[in-house]
Amino acid sequence: MVETRLPAELLRDDPRIPKTPDPSAIVIFGASGDLTARKLVPALYELAEGRRLPMEFAIVGVARTPMSYEEFREKLRRSLEEQRPGGVSDDVWDSFSGGIFYLAGDSKKAGTYRELKGFLKNLDNERGTRGNRAFYLASSPTLFSTIVEGLGEAGMNEGEDGGWARLVVEKPFGRDLTSARELNADIRRYFEETQIYRIDHYLGKETVQNILALRFSNSIFEPLWNQHYVDHVQITVAEDLGIGSRGGFYEDAGALRDIIQNHAMQILCLTAMEPPAAFDAESVREEKVKVLKAARRIPADEVEDFAVRGQYTRGWVWGEETPGYREEEDIGPDSTTETYVALKLYIDNWRWAGTPFYVRTGKRLPKRVTEIAIQFKPTPHAPFAGAENLEPNVLVVRVQPEEGVSLKIGAKVPGSGFEIRSVNMDLLYGTAFLEEVPDAYQRLLLDLMLGDPTLFIRSDETEGAWDILGPVMRAWTENGEMPFYPAGSWGPDEAEKLLKREGRRWRRP
Ligand code: BG6
Repeated sequence: MVETRLPAELLRDDPRIPKTPDPSAIVIFGASGDLTARKLVPALYELAEGRRLPMEFAIVGVARTPMSYEEFREKLRRSLEEQRPGGVSDDVWDSFSGGIFYLAGDSKKAGTYRELKGFLKNLDNERGTRGNRAFYLASSPTLFSTIVEGLGEAGMNEGEDGGWARLVVEKPFGRDLTSARELNADIRRYFEETQIYRIDHYLGKETVQNILALRFSNSIFEPLWNQHYVDHVQITVAEDLGIGSRGGFYEDAGALRDIIQNHAMQILCLTAMEPPAAFDAESVREEKVKVLKAARRIPADEVEDFAVRGQYTRGWVWGEETPGYREEEDIGPDSTTETYVALKLYIDNWRWAGTPFYVRTGKRLPKRVTEIAIQFKPTPHAPFAGAENLEPNVLVVRVQPEEGVSLKIGAKVPGSGFEIRSVNMDLLYGTAFLEEVPDAYQRLLLDLMLGDPTLFIRSDETEGAWDILGPVMRAWTENGEMPFYPAGSWGPDEAEKLLKREGRRWRRP
């Protein structure tokens, strides 16, 4: 076929050529909070330093605390300096912070939105933001619907003068299926699905995206990626930290809502999904939703065969004694919030029928590690002496830290006999690529401004994930029994038993 497009157009579509977003303003609700100072503004600063932001760009923080522009900028700079041991460039900061503004206002009052609208209009004139706005909900989730209504009623659900309006919703997106549906309905009263960017920062992590790259750009893995060859899959999102000063939030959430419903389920989807026809928002998200639909719903009276929870008690992590969960700030002495979850899930489809996916997460485990381990079935026959004791092949995608991929294989021990031993073939990102791995929020904020929702969550994904977890949440609310594990251990004994009774065991990553 004859290519009729001009070279410039071809270049514009080339994924290797960085694109610059449209002139725009990003409005952050809940701007005095932790997320803005620790994640959002540092990510935007990095983008500014890498010249990935448009010249005509502004950040408008909205929160109740009275603050001048200068005070807001100072606070952000201090936090940025803490995050960047390498220092902050005065030149970059001066031009970047000149576009940072702050509006003190109560998000429950209509006047705040009128004022914001006028403010943004002025910015269009003064900074050339051209009517394009992204509204970022980083406030308390209890305010999400109120803010959306405020924006909608003030007419800010559309951009000005033909510009665009996009809405970013932070997690947690609801606290169960019913509340997630209500929140989706509240948002859809004012915003179209194509304007909504539900964020899960794990999707912005390079190594999470690499699950797709590994699977769909290599011909050697995909033929084995199914129930014929895979014995089971283990997904681990382990943290050595406790809950820090987030007790108020965590007590209400727990590990199932905080990690499993979003980060772990997304990893599961990317690991289990069918190849998408293209790497675009609809194709990728459609395939993820199919996985969630195929995930077996756990029968209400069998929850304990599929799900284990736990809560950490006093223990030792990295040689330091740490308090138990019930002794943490803002946590009651008889709290029944889980800080550990292990689940067994089945994806009842052609590819995965009968292959269990074990998923676990926990706070105060021995180390911080997120990984996906694909454990293959053993060879059908062992012709070498001792080979029956050989560990099966395991392909591990290490999401963090020490990002990389490793494959456990059997190899001959050098010498005259024929002894076989398991060894690892490792790919370490740090040594394979010279580029620094950008923070997840950089990628996601850039995609937001470029209008690419591929790495954001569609409404049916979030609802599907809640639906799967519903029986577990209900069973745990009814039954107050809580298994414990000492901080610094790999979780409660019940989690070991979950695998042991099927002749398997958790990896020690
Ligand atoms: C957040 C959770 O979504 O993810 C936190 O609310 C958790 O509890 C954090 O610590 C983990 O993120 P990361 O990027 O450090 O693995």
